[in-house]
Amino acid sequence: MIEVTKLNAPCGAEIKGVDFSKPVSKTDLKIIRQAWMDHHVLVFPNQKLENEDLVRFAEYLGPIGDDPFIEPIDGHKKIAAIHRRADETGRIFADNWHSDWSFMPVPPAGTCLYGLIIPPEGGDTFFSNQHLAYEMLPEEMKAKLHNVNAIHSARTAYARDGAYAKDNGAMRITVSDEAKKIQTHPIARNHPESGKIGLFGGSYVVDFENTPEDEAKQLAAELRDWQNRDEFVYRHKWEPDMLVLWDNRSVLHRASGGYEGYERRLHRLTIADSPDYY
Ligand code: SIN
Repeated sequence: MIEVTKLNAPCGAEIKGVDFSKPVSKTDLKIIRQAWMDHHVLVFPNQKLENEDLVRFAEYLGPIGDDPFIEPIDGHKKIAAIHRRADETGRIFADNWHSDWSFMPVPPAGTCLYGLIIPPEGGDTFFSNQHLAYEMLPEEMKAKLHNVNAIHSARTAYARDGAYAKDNGAMRITVSDEAKKIQTHPIARNHPESGKIGLFGGSYVVDFENTPEDEAKQLAAELRDWQNRDEFVYRHKWEPDMLVLWDNRSVLHRASGGYEGYERRLHRLTIADSPDYY
């Protein structure tokens, strides 16, 4: 029987009693979707999955999303790899707080990541609950954020002069001028599915609409300091065969290092945001 256990953390739940190597019942999918809305990050340990199983899992939650600047793995157009070889010494991919592809007009609802090769230490993924971050804001800050639109862009990461334009080791990244496009989203916004208010920002925010430069810089710094305070953060430790699903609309996340000399490989799919699946 499916069993949802809330983690002792500001977000996250562990789910047991479901096997994604086989089709899953509508009843269990309903429980999983509700748990996703309630806890924002779901951890499914001990799942022995092939790539086809991962695609089936993601498609239970929504259409598979586009991954604009990461090439898929060989033979699977919908799956990308988060991969770092044991001999790599460059920057860790995605080690800054972000919501996946938040620069899109309709950013992905979720992302799932499946652990294939997990180092014995390090490589944890951090998640920060942005409903809680909003709730705990001082009232004057809430009032200040009301009606502020953040400008999101992939340019600092994926433009031809962006952070990922250099050597990316085993990550299959393509940089392009497309990354210079911008898209606005309210910084305090209602979750499209649950309706609950939260902060929507992260490292793709490059500016704020109708905000003088000095105020924009100050606001960016205040938000950066606030959004990822320890009291909002769950630190996830990986195991091989572990599947994790998160909600990009309610958490920020970041990768971390600390596994020098070890390989790390996870398979990743993004899930588009489609009200047809709510
Ligand atoms: C990601 O942001 O998709 C990668 C997270 C990780 O490698 O821990």
